[in-house]
Amino acid sequence: MERTIFNMRFLLLIFLAPSVWPASSSSAQEKFLQCFSSRIQPSNPVSEVILTKNSSDYSSVLRSSIRNYRFLNTTIVKPQFIITPFDESHIQAAIVCAREYGMQIRVRSGGHDYEGLSFESYQEFVLVDLAKLSSIILDIENETAWIGAGASIGELYYKIADKSKVHGFPAGSCPTVGVGGHFSGGGFGTIFRKYGLAADNVIDAQIVDANGRILDRESMGEDLFWAIRGGGAASFGVILSWKLRLVSVPPTVTVFNIERTLEQGASNLLQKWQSIGDKFHEDLFLHAAIEVATSSPNGNKTIRVSFVSLFLGRAEELLPVMQDSFPELGLMRENCSEMSWIQSILYFGGFSPRDSLDVLLSRTAQFKGFFKGKSDYVKEPISETGLEGLYRRLLEEEASMLILTPYGGRMSEISDSEIPFPHRSGNIFKIQYLITWDVEEETERHLKWMRRLYAYMAPYVSNSPRAAYLNYRDLDLGRNNNGNTSFAKASVWGLKYFKNNFKRLVQVKTATDPSNFFRNEQSIPVLPSWRQRKMNLK
Ligand SMILES: Cc1cc2nc3c(=O)[nH]c(=O)nc-3n(C[C@H](O)[C@H](O)[C@H](O)COP(=O)(O)OP(=O)(O)OC[C@H]3O[C@@H](n4cnc5c(N)ncnc54)[C@H](O)[C@@H]3O)c2cc1C
Ligand SMILES: *[C@@H]1O[C@H](CO)[C@@H](O)[C@H](O)[C@H]1NC(C)=O
Ligand SMILES: *[C@@H]1O[C@H](CO)[C@@H](O)[C@H](O)[C@H]1NC(C)=O
Ligand SMILES: *[C@@H]1O[C@H](CO)[C@@H](O)[C@H](O)[C@H]1NC(C)=O
Ligand SMILES: *[C@@H]1O[C@H](CO)[C@@H](O)[C@H](O)[C@H]1NC(C)=O
Ligand SMILES: *[C@@H]1O[C@H](CO)[C@@H](O)[C@H](O)[C@H]1NC(C)=O
Ligand SMILES: *[C@@H]1O[C@H](CO)[C@@H](O)[C@H](O)[C@H]1NC(C)=O
Repeated sequence: MERTIFNMRFLLLIFLAPSVWPASSSSAQEKFLQCFSSRIQPSNPVSEVILTKNSSDYSSVLRSSIRNYRFLNTTIVKPQFIITPFDESHIQAAIVCAREYGMQIRVRSGGHDYEGLSFESYQEFVLVDLAKLSSIILDIENETAWIGAGASIGELYYKIADKSKVHGFPAGSCPTVGVGGHFSGGGFGTIFRKYGLAADNVIDAQIVDANGRILDRESMGEDLFWAIRGGGAASFGVILSWKLRLVSVPPTVTVFNIERTLEQGASNLLQKWQSIGDKFHEDLFLHAAIEVATSSPNGNKTIRVSFVSLFLGRAEELLPVMQDSFPELGLMRENCSEMSWIQSILYFGGFSPRDSLDVLLSRTAQFKGFFKGKSDYVKEPISETGLEGLYRRLLEEEASMLILTPYGGRMSEISDSEIPFPHRSGNIFKIQYLITWDVEEETERHLKWMRRLYAYMAPYVSNSPRAAYLNYRDLDLGRNNNGNTSFAKASVWGLKYFKNNFKRLVQVKTATDPSNFFRNEQSIPVLPSWRQRKMNLK
């Protein structure tokens, strides 16, 4: 009954507004809708699963997890339909029907993609928003969990802490990040020097492939299971859920934040940090954030470096470690706060450790505005001259920031090819460059500034390839045009994100999605057929 009304309304819309869509594509859309409606259970009213541009909720659902205002721009192609599945069969139907009628799909979990690829496209498409598939089933006894791909890492942390004070999971800092994109691109946080990435701790997964089949680790095989842990799942299918290995955390951890401006000797501290940050014991995470600040005596702009730490233990164990290896920082007992691991999640998520844990369940991002990010890996300490030029450039902008994340520890023990994420031993730290702004008109200026800064840093960071982190996606590194995945072009960003693993990703892609149904501006390309023949892949 409801389905009929829905279809009639849709047909009416087509007849009333024929100029809105070109005739051919509107009939494809109509056919998609009919196909989709006919494939879902009659007990799941179609209007609860799919929104058209004409639905009253369309705009609010579309915007619900857009974190970066750059992608609210009206000139960007918006989805024809938004599917909000609450059953896996809805995703199967979306894939089968989209393929049948030549529509593209985009999949969104937490919506944090740095270039908005989960909810915008260069051509008409169907958005599958997984927010309703967010169940979390914990098995504390066996230290595992199954988590729906639409859940956020904040929800995961909350659920774990609710059941156990001595378990955790090594993923990112911002609670609203979705596990769909985050785990499939790597996923690091404050305990990754001890336990590796989120993707290193995925032990099974459910995925819907391009034929609409639901596969688990056993039925998908080890090649595809390898690819979706760090290779970006969007090139391969739609992840329904992940099975995770939980990790141990002590009942008490210690955090501190020591800030110094250039006038207070920040640059010397940064020099020292570069020589020790990756060599600390794996229980100690100490990152450095460099940003513009106002120096208090004269109100002049200066650079401030914040050394922020999580230690998996008590303050009295941390103090002698710091006294031995980094006395220049002058860490004192008074600078340390002891808390539970879940409180440290609040702290690194930008909350007070005394806030209610309920804030971890909110899907509303704390940061909203325009931003652009980039990343680099550093293998040799950056020279004093290099840093001075960096400070000068940062001072040209108000809200620019670099976050230096120390590697080493467990990250150096895992082989480069264990999963597609290749940035392991040999890296001292990773840089994330960030610039934020509030006014649309300033966009071009800030993007240009960021590109200049990135060019300036070239001599000080990794090269051949100049490596980058997939989860800080950057379309400046190159893109597939209009879904035309040129193999040569894709190799440029492919080698930066995946190094030698790119080749295997292309092989897995070619074997599992030869028609390149799952594609976006930076999806893994399918080998051209002549190359497939040469490699005996066909
Ligand atoms: C404020 C903020 C803080 C961040 N903090 C961290 C951090 O601490 N550590 C870190 O490592 N990274 C961090 N990131 C980066 C983050 O890991 C990536 O942006 C990640 O891809 C986000 O995942 P998502 O599900 O929220 O994003 P989405 O935009 O939903 O998805 C990102 C990509 O994955 C695809 N995808 C999503 N779900 C699925 C699925 N179920 N199946 C197949 N493909 C899917 C999308 O199509 C898209 O290509 C942060 C980002 C932001 C904006
Ligand atoms: C939405 O549909 C109604 C009729 O069902 C129509 O009157 C209205 O113009 C449509 N709005 C848009 C934006 O297409
Ligand atoms: C949107 O993006 C286009 C192209 O980058 C730009 O010209 C325009 O100013 C932006 N803003 C709005 C509001 O459309
Ligand atoms: C833990 O795993 C074992 C082996 O897979 C299983 O037999 C057992 O039922 C699991 N425990 C719980 C609580 O599920
Ligand atoms: C560290 O503690 C000392 C002693 O209480 C204090 O003087 C100093 O301001 C603290 N530093 C920071 C960054 O909090
Ligand atoms: C700080 O600002 C004052 C007044 O604007 C200026 O005279 C001085 O040179 C500045 N100091 C530095 C270190 O830039
Ligand atoms: C794809 O790119 C290749 C090489 O750049 C070009 O020859 C071809 O025409 C393009 N195809 C489409 C559909 O744009």
